[in-house]
Amino acid sequence: LPLFGEGRAVPSLQTPLTRRLGIDAPVVQAPIGSATGPELAVAVSEAGGLGTLAVTWRDPGEIAATVASTWRRTDGPVGANVVVDPDATDTPTDALVDAVVAQGVEAGGHLQSDVSTMALVPRVVDVVDCPVVAAGGIGDGRGLAAVLALGADAGWLGTRFVTTQEARVHERYRRRVVEASETDTASGTPSDGGWPDVPHRVVRNQTVETWESAGRPPRGERPGEDDTVARVDGAGVGRYEDSLATPDATGDVEELPLYAGQSSGVVAGAPPAGEVVDRLTATARATIEDLPR
Ligand SMILES: Cc1cc2nc3c(=O)[nH]c(=O)nc-3n(C[C@H](O)[C@H](O)[C@H](O)COP(=O)(O)O)c2cc1C
Repeated sequence: LPLFGEGRAVPSLQTPLTRRLGIDAPVVQAPIGSATGPELAVAVSEAGGLGTLAVTWRDPGEIAATVASTWRRTDGPVGANVVVDPDATDTPTDALVDAVVAQGVEAGGHLQSDVSTMALVPRVVDVVDCPVVAAGGIGDGRGLAAVLALGADAGWLGTRFVTTQEARVHERYRRRVVEASETDTASGTPSDGGWPDVPHRVVRNQTVETWESAGRPPRGERPGEDDTVARVDGAGVGRYEDSLATPDATGDVEELPLYAGQSSGVVAGAPPAGEVVDRLTATARATIEDLPR
């Protein structure tokens, strides 16, 4: 069982991974693409979790500057996420792996598995000899307590942080995730620009519904393939591109891929990210203490 640490207004929940990383809460703010930024990562790390940046496809100089400026703003650790090509010969080997993230099919964003978090995490815990971090479908402290019970050392939450005040998302995207229930997301490959044929989970919008009604056709045969639905960073974005709805997006931003997972059912409101970390830890701890024995 995790040990309960003391010394903060919200008591911490310690696991071998939290001790190794020097964090108070077994909570990782998942890298959520362009929605991630220094404000979000710093808020999470200052609250005792692990904040992360998502820096894939950026210029190396820009990556170094963003990471350095984020590190200057917090004493806590901050992670940097880079998506690697599994076929690349210089991909880091398992000699560098300190922990494994096991993500179930409930997750928001791109999916690599069609197994649920509940079934996947104990299987991974049984076969790896390093800490496992559970991802997919964790939206509150009860979910965090559940994955700790499955043997994970921490929870890795994306959708929960998409709606926080510090996330770099368009207000209409944030609202759609807050309002969505667990049955309002869909998985498939409609918006596979940049990630050919990789399934992803999004909140249902007109783009998804039209594509599904047409029989989920492949790239090149999708309805409205030539539509420009929005502008992001001043550039037009096609209906099936993978651009995330950032605050500066204009046009039909709700037609962009509204990446979110089934935890949208329990994700409510748009609180500050630090408050999310505190509530996750406090509720997980209370949930574990209140279990029948
Ligand atoms: C908006 C969004 C963007 C994401 N971008 C990335 C990314 O850039 N890199 C990555 O490794 N995972 C990315 N993911 C996956 C998350 O890191 C995480 O594994 C997932 O959100 C966990 O499931 P949950 O949404 O149910 O909490 C993204 C997920 C979302 C919702």
